Amino acid sequence: MTIETDRLRDRVAAELGRARDRTTLLTGTVDEGDLIRQHSPLMSPLVWDLAHVGNQEELWLVRDVGGREPVRRDIDELYDAFKHPRRDRPQLPLLSPADARRYVATVRDKALDVLTGSRLDGTPLVDQGFAFGMIVQHEQQHDETMLATHQLRAGAPVLEAPPPPAPAAPVTGEAFVPAGPFTMGTSTEAWALDNERPAHRVEVPAFHIDRAAVTNGAYAEFIDDGGYDDPRWWSEAGWAHRQKADLVAPLHWSRDGDGWAYTQFGRTSRIAPGEPVVHVCFYEAAAYAAWAGKRLPTEAEWEKAARFDPATGRSRRFPWGDDEPTASHANLGQRHLRPATAGAYPQGVSPLGVHQLIGDVWEWTSTDFAGYPGFRAFPYREYSEVFFGPEYKVLRGGSFGTDRSACRGTFRNWDYPIRRQIFSGFRCARDA
Ligand code: AVJ
Ligand code: FE
Repeated sequence: MTIETDRLRDRVAAELGRARDRTTLLTGTVDEGDLIRQHSPLMSPLVWDLAHVGNQEELWLVRDVGGREPVRRDIDELYDAFKHPRRDRPQLPLLSPADARRYVATVRDKALDVLTGSRLDGTPLVDQGFAFGMIVQHEQQHDETMLATHQLRAGAPVLEAPPPPAPAAPVTGEAFVPAGPFTMGTSTEAWALDNERPAHRVEVPAFHIDRAAVTNGAYAEFIDDGGYDDPRWWSEAGWAHRQKADLVAPLHWSRDGDGWAYTQFGRTSRIAPGEPVVHVCFYEAAAYAAWAGKRLPTEAEWEKAARFDPATGRSRRFPWGDDEPTASHANLGQRHLRPATAGAYPQGVSPLGVHQLIGDVWEWTSTDFAGYPGFRAFPYREYSEVFFGPEYKVLRGGSFGTDRSACRGTFRNWDYPIRRQIFSGFRCARDA
């Protein structure tokens, strides 16, 4: 065992611990009823997420990597996301909150034991701690999902966080990105998931991209201008959905006199005009962009704006460079429970002058979720490959609810174009 392996093992253990602290907070601040209840048909009961996190950890770390005996073989089916759609999960004979807590603690003890005995190399699954990193990201992804469930929960507020930093200087306007190839995706990022691989060259025509995400104030102008009632701005599918779902404003917005209020984790206040708009679906984002005389960026444009360094021709891991995100780079990790105004993270700017691509809000792109050239499913088809196709749109950059372990310049998220319970916003682009 080398010092380097020891260091990696310590890092893995710390990341697992950080994820569990977050899970414990999100499941510990509500009562039993709120853990078992379904707060929206779009979401699982929180107690399902909790035991599902433990079950995935058991499957991959305890049984597969560790070769240990199952902790609970009998519950695999209950916590298989593909066996039961979210709306059906409250009716299942789920583990009680107390049993779920005991279960995840037992699994964690065994997983840490497996970690202690692993050299973290030898097979692609464990090389550089990949399987452990995958499970860290899985738990953190569910922590973001659980935060979205909290946002849909009725009742007195239970979550508290300080506001994000105020802008150092206002950020408006567009950045110009010259035509040319750049490296998209990664073949070297140790914990990158299969859909981020492999690195490949992409030719991108010149374009302009907003230096900041679209704000509540700008979005309210679109509403006031009758944007939701004018089919000119909407795609055919978007207009059909707008009609059917009776969309009039972002999710969680309500009329407040002649303005708008926003209810967030149980507290209602006037919308903050300078903050990025959040809880819009792809169709709303695309309609706003058309109204503004622009369009959504493609996924390749977004990644080039985020990673391309014109001075070296290299793609960075993050907009600011190759260093891991800190609290001064980006609004991540549920440190603040709202997106920050543009200009709040001057240290996070990309070489092309684009702000806050990482953190704050997930950003819709115009691109369907698909595998990169040379894609290989790893370690299981159900992580990404089964979702490839035109019914899912790619979102980039992570939100205030995303942990840094589950967010990088190459990280890809996806969802249906009608979804808006996620922390989704957008920025606009246009052809040069
Ligand atoms: C990548 C956020 C779309 O939540 O469906 C969690 C992550 N995969 N468990 C999701 C995931 C399996 C996934 N997203
Ligand atoms: Fe999952």
